[in-house]
This record gives sequence, C-alpha cells and structure tokens, in this order.
Amino acid sequence: MIHLNDILILDFGSQYTQLIARRIRESKVYSEIHPHSFSIEKIKELNPKGIILSGGPMSAFEEDSPQVNSEIFKLGVPVLGICYGMQLVTLEYGGVVEPAEHREYGKASLQIAGESKLFENVKDNSTVWMSHGDYITKLPEGFKVDAKSENSPICAISNPAKNIYGVQFHPEVAHTLEGKAIIDNFLFNICKCKADWTPENFIQSSVEEIKNKIGGKKAICALSGGVDSSVAAILVKKAIGENLICIHVDTGMMRKNESADIVKMFNDNYDLHIISIDASEMFLSRLEGVTEPEKKRKIIGNTFIDVFEEEAKKYGEIDYLIQGTLYPDVIESVSVKGQSVTIKTHHNVGGLPEKMDMSLIEPFRELFKDEVRAIGYELGLPKEFIARHPFPGPGLAVRVLSDITKDKLDVLREADAIYIDEMQAAGIYDDIWQAFAVLLPVQTVGVMGDKRTYENVIALRAVTSTDGMTADWFRFDYDFLENVSNKIIRSVRGVNRVCYDISSKPPSTIEWE
Ligand code: XMP
Repeated sequence: MIHLNDILILDFGSQYTQLIARRIRESKVYSEIHPHSFSIEKIKELNPKGIILSGGPMSAFEEDSPQVNSEIFKLGVPVLGICYGMQLVTLEYGGVVEPAEHREYGKASLQIAGESKLFENVKDNSTVWMSHGDYITKLPEGFKVDAKSENSPICAISNPAKNIYGVQFHPEVAHTLEGKAIIDNFLFNICKCKADWTPENFIQSSVEEIKNKIGGKKAICALSGGVDSSVAAILVKKAIGENLICIHVDTGMMRKNESADIVKMFNDNYDLHIISIDASEMFLSRLEGVTEPEKKRKIIGNTFIDVFEEEAKKYGEIDYLIQGTLYPDVIESVSVKGQSVTIKTHHNVGGLPEKMDMSLIEPFRELFKDEVRAIGYELGLPKEFIARHPFPGPGLAVRVLSDITKDKLDVLREADAIYIDEMQAAGIYDDIWQAFAVLLPVQTVGVMGDKRTYENVIALRAVTSTDGMTADWFRFDYDFLENVSNKIIRSVRGVNRVCYDISSKPPSTIEWE
C-alpha cells in the first residue's frame, strides 16, 4: 500500500518499540517498525517523513551493540532518537555516553531548558518515564540541550539545522504525561505529517487494492467467528462480492449456540452466504481418548484442514485464501528474536495455503488489533461482536481437561454461558481481556439436599492483558463469584464445586492446556 505520511521506526530491541508505533498511529499517522539493520536502499524506497530510533537493552558504546547506519542522517529526513536511540545520535556526532553510577528507572521531572520544536506547548516540570543505565556526559557537536532532569543534565537534545532530536526518556509510555504532545510535535511540527491514517481511508484503499489483486478470481475464507478473520471477510466481500466463499466449520468445540449465532449474524447483515459445516462428529471421534494437550491441538489443526479442503474442492479452482494475520505476528522485531520454544502449537488455518496451492491475502498485516476493531466498527459490526473476548482455535477442547466427550463439552458449555452472562449483566465484561470456564478431570464430594454427590469441578478463569503475552488474574468482588458459583452448581447438572484461578501469566498460561 502507498502511504504518503509514513514514520519509520528502527528497532534496537526495546520492549517499548511496538508502543511507539501504536502512539503514532493513535495520532492518525501511519508508522512501520523495521529492524535496525534495515538497508538504506529500503529506507529510501519507503521514503518516510521521519525516522525514529528506538530504545534498546544494550549500551551504545559496547562493541557488539547494534549501531545506526550513518547514511540515515544524510537523507535530510527528521530523526528522533529515544533513549538508546538518542545515545546513538550522540556517538554519531562526537558526544560521549558513559555508564551512570545508578541506573535511572521510573518517574522523573522534565525541566525544559530552551526553545525546541519538540517541546512546543509541552508543560514544564511534567513527569516523564526513564529507563536507562547510561547517560550522556558530553554533548555531540552542533547540538544543544533542550531539557534536563534531576539525574540527567542532558535529558533532551537537538540540532534544529539538521532536524535531529533526542530524548533520554520514553515519550511512548503512558507514565510520560506529555508524551502525546511530544510525539505529536515530532509528527506534525517537525515531520509535517498529515493525520490521514483513519479506518475510512484504510477501508477505501484496501478495497481498491484487493479488487485489483484478485480481479475476477475466487477467494476463500475460513470464518471461525474470531474478530480478525470476520472483519477481513467483510472487507474482502466489499471488494470482490460473490467471488468470496466463506466456510464455517463447526468443530463441536464451540461455545453455547456460537456456530448458529455466527452464521446468522453474517448472513443476515452481510450477505456472506456462509457455508456452514457441522463436522463435530468427525472431530469428536478423532479426539476420542486423547488426553495430551499438544496431541489434541494437532488433531484439531489437521482435521480442520481435511474438512476445509474437502468442502473447498466443490467450488472449483480457488486462487486466494483470506487470513486475518495481524502486525505483531509479522514484525521482525529485535526484541523477540531467539525466543522460539514452543509452549503451545497454535491452531489457525496454517498449512492450508501450501496444501491447496493458494496465495494468501492478509489485509491486516500492517494493523494492530485495536485498529482492526476500529475498522470492524466502521464496517458496522455490532459492539457485542467486536468486543468479544479472544477464543482459541482449538476451542473448548483445551478447556475440557483430559479426554473429551460430548457430555463433558455440554457441561462446560452450560457453565461457561452462565459465567459470561453474569459478567455481562454486572457490566464488567469489557474490563476483562478474556474469561472462560474450564472443566477439570476430577470428581469431588458434595452434599445436595440430604444426598451425597460425587461430581465435577468447574474452574473459572478471567484475566486482564493487553496482548495475551502476559496476563494478570482479574479481581472480581466476592459477591460476584458467589453468585456465579451458586448459579452454576444449582443449574448445571453434574457440577458440585466451582474454583477461581488466581494465577498470572507467566508462570501460568491463560488457557489451561
Ligand atoms: P496462552 O494459553 O498461551 O494463550 O497463554 C494466549 C492467548 O492465545 C489464545 N490461544 C490461541 N489462539 N489458536 C488461537 O487462535 C490457538 O491454538 C490458541 N491457543 C491459545 C488464548 O486463548 C489466549 O488469548
């Protein structure tokens, strides 16, 4: 896609790099993250309006530390170095960076020390977020000090003639109170960007692009009901109409009434003519007696491909597969390199494009989840649908612990529906990233009326998170938990005990399997 107002972020490994991109996009300017080694030819091709050098975990003066290509400073494009990025600028122009006696971590007060385009209309003495072990002891040549803090006498620098700026603190972090104003100054005051990165513009240009790419050929989409693939399907439908084939596979591992609701919603409102296949028996029979979580995941992934491929064959030659891949999955980030142990095999429609010889169309490869949601709203999807908690591909199969049977799934479905309904009634559903019930593979003793019972345990899970990578358990009030527990035990046959999971991620994961 052609963007006229891009900001390029070069990643030096900071944990905050994605946040920089998000903040810029929140100001309606498109931004893209690339590794610090991104070649100068490619940078020229992108022709950004500004370049940001991110923070990073190393010391800029260390031998193996990632360095910045000097050619960047000759492009005539404004540059902003953040933390490590500012130290790179300093070294580039003959300044000195040294280890500080004490690492500065946390809040500091920013004292503006001179005129700077970066700090126009920024309040003096505002709180900024620091996280660094090195600091600048000699100003680079041609630069001036724009701000100080108690522990960093050189906290912000600039060379206005060259349009190069540096800040020691992190403007992208919410703790930096004037962070938005500072980033906006860089975008609009210094780089002269236009605020044109909006859902309407995105939809318009993507529809055009997809139309041109697919032409009169056919595309297929697996509609699970997840937000990303659903919004992608609606967008592609806008572009190619009847040439989009949508298939919904009911794996039998869906929540209460879920498959029927999804199909109805899309057919009624979007004219998608979903082909709905009830493959629950096949999934159940292949999963019979399987207890090992990774094995369950693999069986579900493979069965899905078999069912989908078999159905797709009926529609002749199909050239494209639509997928809702998001930007965080494609960023070649320095910070996540090397972390490749498989904790869980994720089930999505991976494996299909090669098997069926199709090309991928991924309209959201450049977007964050909240941007896809904004596009969903713009396309008219209802809030209950867009704000729904994430649901894993293998569905309830990873929430019925141990082996899976239809009866166990039904017990879990009932308990889960009560839990979620109560959350909605209490008005707290949107405060929670993800919540669900889990059926444990143990029986416990209870007493009902005068009778002894020996029945199942339901565990409730609810977490807050921003991306699912880390999570904390949600603090319900006790009355809410009591009410849910009573309702589940009273109305779900076969359950006589309810527990609440108070583990965070890490060390636990969100799903139990
Ligand atoms: P964990 O359990 O790994 O989950 O902490 C993190 C997030 O990923 C979801 N999840 C999946 N999503 N296919 C998916 O599309 C999968 O196979 C899968 N497994 C886990 C999980 O629900 C949580 O939101």
